[in-house]
Amino acid sequence: MISKYRVMFGVWLIVLLCSVSLSHSAPLACENLLQPLGHLDLNHLEGRRVLVGGSLSNLTLIDRLRRRDSATASFSSNASTANTNFRRSMLLDNKCHYASYNISLEGSSFTFDNGAVNTTFIRTSCHDCILLSFDVESGKRQHFYLFSRRRQLEQKEIDEFKAQVECLNMPPPVVMDPSKELCPEQTTTIAGGMSDTAHLEKFKTRDSATINYPNASETPITSFTRNFNFNDSCQHLQSNITLEGSGYSFHQHNITVTFLYTSCPDCLVMRFDDESKKPLRMYLFSRRREVEQKEIEEFSAQAGCLNMLPPAVMDPTKELCPDQVSRREEETEG
Ligand SMILES: *[C@@H]1O[C@H](CO)[C@@H](O)[C@H](O)[C@H]1NC(C)=O
Ligand SMILES: *[C@@H]1O[C@H](CO)[C@@H](O)[C@H](O)[C@H]1NC(C)=O
Ligand SMILES: *[C@@H]1O[C@H](CO)[C@@H](O)[C@H](O)[C@H]1NC(C)=O
Ligand SMILES: *[C@@H]1O[C@H](CO)[C@@H](O)[C@H](O)[C@H]1NC(C)=O
Ligand SMILES: *[C@@H]1O[C@H](CO)[C@@H](O)[C@H](O)[C@H]1NC(C)=O
Ligand SMILES: *[C@@H]1O[C@H](CO)[C@@H](O)[C@H](O)[C@H]1NC(C)=O
Ligand SMILES: *[C@@H]1O[C@H](CO)[C@@H](O)[C@H](O)[C@H]1NC(C)=O
Ligand SMILES: *[C@@H]1O[C@H](CO)[C@@H](O)[C@H](O)[C@H]1NC(C)=O
Repeated sequence: MISKYRVMFGVWLIVLLCSVSLSHSAPLACENLLQPLGHLDLNHLEGRRVLVGGSLSNLTLIDRLRRRDSATASFSSNASTANTNFRRSMLLDNKCHYASYNISLEGSSFTFDNGAVNTTFIRTSCHDCILLSFDVESGKRQHFYLFSRRRQLEQKEIDEFKAQVECLNMPPPVVMDPSKELCPEQTTTIAGGMSDTAHLEKFKTRDSATINYPNASETPITSFTRNFNFNDSCQHLQSNITLEGSGYSFHQHNITVTFLYTSCPDCLVMRFDDESKKPLRMYLFSRRREVEQKEIEEFSAQAGCLNMLPPAVMDPTKELCPDQVSRREEETEG
């Protein structure tokens, strides 16, 4: 009997000691868990990541977060913190929503939405993650999101995130379903070079053009959607393609496309040839709305080498088509 009590007492003592040491160390642990990132490495930041989990201080909005199938965050910069592009995509009710912001990194923070959202990078032990704390309208509410290059994290990485959320006294995080589709990445047409005036004039009538690449489930790429803003109305064209070598061919047309070299890090240059390999058109695409002058000049030189007319450069202030994922089949121009 005595030894049983002694054991019981021992257990209670341990529980008591643990809870004492926990209550003492908890604030310290939380302080460690919620440290802003000391140094932001732009190379590490670059590229697209997927939302793995998130929490919100507003219960209405956490329900909306739960309804999201997926979300992504991407950063790109030209190696200057004052000129960084921050893009988000979200798949909600089978529709893709995109947003793009021109941001200026200040230490481990940046603001967007005209200063309404102050975002801070928080330290995380997950090596390919970024952890963002959004302070909306001066503390009215807080969003706390973990993004990773992987769709699914290790348990200990999720546990760390849950502990961080708990430290903030926020509701337990919503953990995203890694099997859900991602929104396609969007690329904007920057400039086009044509071999004939008719096509050049037609190109110039477009206000803007974007390409949505297929989502992650579709590899290799077998189709993409182009959205043209033309005369204030949007056209969405889907094309089926077959990848071949360093390019692809359209199913509906006898046109082959070759990717050409470009020094622009987030661009694509595509050359469109007819059956006899005669260059017809070429396009410069970028994830940014506007590229640098030297990148345009390089593209113009490439068009010149292929005996094309001087390229037309799209107006970056024109509206992009509403970002929708259209699966509709239509005749394409190639
Ligand atoms: C939560 O967000 C909803 C929708 O934006 C808003 O109507 C509501 O007032 C917010 N609740 C609190 C407590 O801030
Ligand atoms: C980045 O872009 C800014 C503004 O367009 C430009 O002034 C700067 O020279 C660029 N930096 C690099 C490294 O290209
Ligand atoms: C992006 O920000 C830079 C620096 O603040 C500015 O020079 C540039 O015009 C902005 N571009 C757009 C498209 O807003
Ligand atoms: C944004 O939040 C950080 C971290 O709390 C703070 O240091 C910074 O001053 C804030 N920036 C603005 C513009 O409020
Ligand atoms: C992604 O691709 C699959 C297969 O083609 C398609 O069923 C799904 O609707 C696509 N999702 C989005 C968001 O486009
Ligand atoms: C552009 O739209 C206007 C008004 O909808 C229409 O009258 C005009 O014919 C259109 N122009 C072309 C080139 O389609
Ligand atoms: C494009 O591909 C889809 C799905 O594979 C198919 O249903 C459709 O018929 C194809 N369209 C054309 C024009 O080849
Ligand atoms: C593509 O070329 C082949 C052979 O030259 C021809 O038979 C076919 O009709 C052409 N298809 C189209 C869509 O022009």
